[in-house]
Amino acid sequence: MRQIGILTSGGDASGMNAAIRAVVRAAASVGIRSWGIRNGFDGLMRGDFQRLGPRSVAHILQRGGTILGTTRAPAIETEEGRARAAEQVAATNLDGLVIIGGEGTLRAGQMLYEEHGCRIAAIPATIDNDIAATDTCIGFDTAVNAAVEAMDRIRDTAESSGRVFFVEVMGRTRGLIALYAGLSGGADAIVIPEEHEDMGHLCRRLISAHRGGKRSLLVVVAEGDRAGGAFSVAEQVQQRLNGRLQVDYRVTVLGHLQRGGVPTAADRILGTVLGAAAVECLNDGLDHHMVSEVGNTPVFTPINEVLAVTKELPADLMHLLHTVGQA
Ligand code: F6P
Repeated sequence: MRQIGILTSGGDASGMNAAIRAVVRAAASVGIRSWGIRNGFDGLMRGDFQRLGPRSVAHILQRGGTILGTTRAPAIETEEGRARAAEQVAATNLDGLVIIGGEGTLRAGQMLYEEHGCRIAAIPATIDNDIAATDTCIGFDTAVNAAVEAMDRIRDTAESSGRVFFVEVMGRTRGLIALYAGLSGGADAIVIPEEHEDMGHLCRRLISAHRGGKRSLLVVVAEGDRAGGAFSVAEQVQQRLNGRLQVDYRVTVLGHLQRGGVPTAADRILGTVLGAAAVECLNDGLDHHMVSEVGNTPVFTPINEVLAVTKELPADLMHLLHTVGQA
């Protein structure tokens, strides 16, 4: 291996910079040159590359987002787009690509491998943490901590004014951020797509908690929940309660506040471990694998196998959701 390209794609995630830094430095340590690809697959299709050396990735470890830029690039989902990408890989003599992102990124990487033989090492990075074959994804820990900090702040004001708050957290189709943030932020109810939340049941729980002496109530809602986001859940609850709870209701949507920000130490370590492992993966001759950590050990799994499986929610935390994580 003489040269590799690195790109970040899809939603940015804190800790991506740690991964970029580790890839560049691990590659340099075994004599491999690195090229940064700007703006994800868009940049790959256009040949928008920049040389990256160990010094050019100094002082990025502590920065959120991605220094390479990222896009959601619909063109890479087309055969023509992937052919253009493969031409650029060949024109620059890249012997492999390290792609950092979520499910869409992995899917594009798998197609580039199948159709054009591009050698791929994928690093799972998405705040949604919805990728199988890995304990966690880069960015998840930072996002959960941001959500918990926001919930603590909301609890202060909710407790002072005796209000019910509905807090919406990210998670396009999954409830992992809601589950972790809800449990660690002491939510009174957690509404996630993986569990059908009966609105009548939710209302009864809120009434009983309020009558039991709880001055403030905090309901965490995953944005992807079937009942709709936090505004929709708040409206349904208010309608059903129909004045039976003499309290004010407020809704806060945390949105992209969870995506940016200084990466936690856990995300920096994860990015560093997986970045170095991605170089090892390509250098060892693996050509369509995702590198991840399972039980603190780096593992390499074929990307198509990763994509074939839906990530399970942790059974122990789901149990706690029903016992501790409710009013
Ligand atoms: O990257 C994951 C995610 O943050 C989801 O949680 C969210 O639904 C989506 O991306 C938002 O995407 P965008 O930033 O493109 O609006």
